[in-house]
Amino acid sequence: MARRKKIYEGKAKILYEGPEPGTFVQYFKDDATAFNAEKKATIDGKGVLNNRLSEFFMKGLTQIGIPNHFLKRLNMREQLIRQVEIIPLEVIVRNFAAGSMSTRLGLSEGTALPRPIVEFCLKDDKLGDPLVSEEHIIAFGWASQQDLDDMLALALRVNDFMSGVMLAVGIKLVDFKIEIGRVWENDFQRLIVADEISPDSCRLWDVETGQKLDKDVFRRDLGSLTDAYTEVARRLGVLPSNVTHATKPTLIN
Ligand code: TMP
Repeated sequence: MARRKKIYEGKAKILYEGPEPGTFVQYFKDDATAFNAEKKATIDGKGVLNNRLSEFFMKGLTQIGIPNHFLKRLNMREQLIRQVEIIPLEVIVRNFAAGSMSTRLGLSEGTALPRPIVEFCLKDDKLGDPLVSEEHIIAFGWASQQDLDDMLALALRVNDFMSGVMLAVGIKLVDFKIEIGRVWENDFQRLIVADEISPDSCRLWDVETGQKLDKDVFRRDLGSLTDAYTEVARRLGVLPSNVTHATKPTLIN
């Protein structure tokens, strides 16, 4: 196969030039990082699971009319996506206190919030992705007021969808992060959900036991990350049982 042009390599994914203008191939690596890459590991099968899970969530979003970058899965680790101009903000939605919100505000993990709370962090690893306010975003021109309104609406719709999908399989959506990108259609621009939606970027707790089924398992050394993600995939019915084997690739449809 001809060598592909690498566009960008992040901590968990690589973007390659796509087969047509306006497309990229998104490759999911097995690498896991936490605390701004201070902690690193390679987790066999994570990329395969996240490719499949992100496909599942993005296709669901498409089915309820929430625009996103997913076009089609290409193989076990790669999917074809629309090229977008990423807005340099991490959009976090929280339903229950956890993680940095618990630390910042002294709320015990699991405290129900009065309503879903949306936070924005500047995407800048050197600064540790600091929390920023809407004032900062407008003043520094990272996004316009219209973009902000659109991002809030998108984030809350994704939250409703994801909360419902997860609750149906006995999982509580505590919080999640999405990234949003700009696409141009003729002279009009619109915002669509981009990057990935996977247990790397969500907090997912079993409704009955509170067991963590997300990247906190890695961040906090709580056991096997592959087992946790496989359990999420199994409950959602998105994976045949044998595709996480690192050594023997299996064709999936
Ligand atoms: P936080 O509580 O650490 O701020 O995380 C909030 C949510 O955002 C949680 O679901 C994990 C996700 N997240 C990412 O996807 N990437 C990141 O770099 C961080 C810090 C959090």
